[in-house]
Amino acid sequence: MLRILLPLILILPWPARAQDDACGAGALQRQQETLAGYLRLDFADDMETALANLFRLGALYQAMALDCGYAPNAAEVNAMLERVLDYASLDDLIAAQSVGDDVEAILLELQDVYGDPLTGQLLYNGLEATLGGNPLGCAGCHENEAIAPLTAGTWTRIDDARLKLPQFADYSHRQFLVESIVRPMDYITPEYAEVMPEFYGSQLTIQQLADLVAFLESQDQLLETDGTKDLPHQP
Ligand code: HEC
Repeated sequence: MLRILLPLILILPWPARAQDDACGAGALQRQQETLAGYLRLDFADDMETALANLFRLGALYQAMALDCGYAPNAAEVNAMLERVLDYASLDDLIAAQSVGDDVEAILLELQDVYGDPLTGQLLYNGLEATLGGNPLGCAGCHENEAIAPLTAGTWTRIDDARLKLPQFADYSHRQFLVESIVRPMDYITPEYAEVMPEFYGSQLTIQQLADLVAFLESQDQLLETDGTKDLPHQP
């Protein structure tokens, strides 16, 4: 945090510091305007820089909160959010944070992210919202074997059946899982229809995808058959 903040503090004017009431409401507002002006965002032009600037802006607000012992109330938080939305649309902000559908790039990124299977389960069951605030509908389809392969035994099926297919000879389990989620149309399980939505890459952060993958990696229940069919053991 200091590495990001120090250079900025050195180059940015801090008008409020010179005032008597450095932490008063007026001073805070002047500071916010100065900072927002300096950190003008252009998401269409350079998404990465704009997003980095947005986080910097957030860090500076946080520093103000620490310096001044100032916790914004709900109305102020809303005003700040609206201010951010002046610079970038919600769609742009979501796009900047979503994983996309480049499986190779996602796999590289996942190496540095620890997935939490419990959060993954909440996401999978629609109990935790994703980017844009919508819950996922994974369980809705995957709890009915007539519609989609059952959740239980997903890892086992990949291990026993999918990766035995010639086209997946050099796939890792994780690669198969990630591709199934962000590019579901690349491979359609023979017994099923092409109904899985293709938009998940634009709804999930890398952390959320890691959580989902961790949850599905935990679905290693034994299957009833020799693994060449899709029938997990029915309790
Ligand atoms: C509208 C129904 C539907 C929804 C919603 C859905 N899926 Fe699927 N999914 C399917 C179907 C059908 C298949 C099998 C056909 C195929 O390969 O696309 C499948 C295949 C998969 C597979 C590969 C399973 C295997 O045994 O090969 C995985 C993994 C998967 N889905 C994960 C997810 C996750 C995670 C979500 C939520 C983010 C999700 N699905 C949402 C219908 C759905």
